Formats: sequence, C-alpha cells, structure tokens
Amino acid sequence: MALIGVFDSGVGGLSILDEALRQLPQHDYIYLADSVNAPYGEKSSDWIAARSLALCKHLESQGCEAIVVACNTATAEAIKQIRAELRIPIIGVEPGIKPAAMQSQNGIVGVLATEATLKSDKFNALLATLPSHCEFIKQAGAGLVPLIEAGQGDSTQTLELLAKHLQPIQDAGADTLVLGCTHYPFLRKAIRRLLGDSITLIDTSEAVVRQLKRQLESQGKLSAQASHGAVIFISSKNAQTLMAMAQDLMTSDLAAHQLSSAALEAIS
Ligand code: DGL
Repeated sequence: MALIGVFDSGVGGLSILDEALRQLPQHDYIYLADSVNAPYGEKSSDWIAARSLALCKHLESQGCEAIVVACNTATAEAIKQIRAELRIPIIGVEPGIKPAAMQSQNGIVGVLATEATLKSDKFNALLATLPSHCEFIKQAGAGLVPLIEAGQGDSTQTLELLAKHLQPIQDAGADTLVLGCTHYPFLRKAIRRLLGDSITLIDTSEAVVRQLKRQLESQGKLSAQASHGAVIFISSKNAQTLMAMAQDLMTSDLAAHQLSSAALEAIS
C-alpha cells in the first residue's frame, strides 16, 4: 500500500492532510513540516526551490510513492524542479482563482496568499488565462503564518492583522475570497467573523486530494484496504508540538489512525 508524503513549510498542509484522511483514510502518511523555516512566503525564490526539493527528496528516500506539496508557495517556486528530479507523482496546490472566477456573481474576487505566491511566475501565468472581466484583489497575508504556527489562529492579534489584510478586499466589494495559502483554512472562523457568511470562500483541498486519488488509481496504487493507515508527523522544529497541533486543528478522525512523531534528520 502506497505511503504518501505531505509537505509544507509548517502546519498549513495539515488542512490538506485532514482532507486526505477523509477521502483516503486507508493509506499511510508522512506529514513533514519545515516549521523551523516557516514562513516560506517571505523568502527568496531560490531558497524556497532548493529547500522544497531537498525535503521532497527526503520523503522519497523514506519510501513515499506520491507526494503532495501542500504549500502554495513551494508549489509556485519549486514544483517544476521537483517533478523533473523525482520519479513519483507530485501533486501541488495552487490558489483556486479559476473556480473563484466561475463562482463569483459580481466578478470581484479577493486573493489572500503569501507574497512569494503572488509574485511568482506560475501564479501570474495562471491569472493571465482567466477572463479579463473578473477583477482580482491580491493581498499578501504578511504575518499571519507565524501566528498560526504559534497556535494563535484565534487570538485578538490575529483577528486585528487579518482585518487589516481583508480591508482592501472588503472595500472592493468582493463576493468571493480565495484562501491561497494552506494555513488560511485555519482562519476560516476569524474570516467569517470579519466578512460574514455571504462571502464564498475558495479552498482547493478537496480538489487536490481528488487529484492525488486519480494519480494513485492510474498507478495501480490506490489501496482498497478497509482499516485506517498510520500517520507519522515529522518536523524540523518540534515533532511533538506538531502532532499536538494536528490533533487540535484537524477535524477528521485522527484518533482512528496510528500516530507517531519524529524529528527531521539532517538533510543534505
Ligand atoms: N502554507 C504555505 C502556503 O500554502 C506557506 C506559508 C509560508 O510558509 O509562508 O503558501
């Protein structure tokens, strides 16, 4: 049965792992958080590309037969290189601007993502394919990832910073908001408090996991086993803290899986 690697700069990719455990609970997973280096979103393209490639190679060396790069920033900066150097299926995540453009009624769409994602060639190339009648209000969520990493997703400080970032989107009258960073689904409650229930929130985790499923199916690696698989949490900072945060943030039935944690070995 295929072991699946899920990688992010920190705890954000847990939003993707959560969905993976809902759709594909029978598989085994390694979740790798590079929390010592989070946030990636304010680092250089070269650094993000080199580090993401090294960590994905590590996951492959641990026996992963597919990897989800559960980070919009790493996908934008590194996925091409990762796909070129690894032989296993690599699934990325991108801000859902396409579904947002299709679902928006008034054609005004907010995009909250990291600075690196918004500046990347990959994101801007995707943006260029979309209908020009749709207006995208792009906003970098500077400072939000460190607060989520510190377990402060529900704090007053986070709410205030988020309010500042969402102001231009609200002022423009957006009826749809793209959560363009995998950390941001963990701010859903705070976003709803600030913007109300009528705004449509776009989070691509379901589609990403469907894509993972298709890839496993096409390789004949989709498990039909009935029992739940194991999940190993690996962190470059503190693996036990990561596992505790996973138990706190995730809503899938984590307790049904065999859980363990381990420190990230030195990576060359
Ligand atoms: N979770 C990430 C993303 O989807 C990275 C955030 C960061 O480290 O800045 O972009």
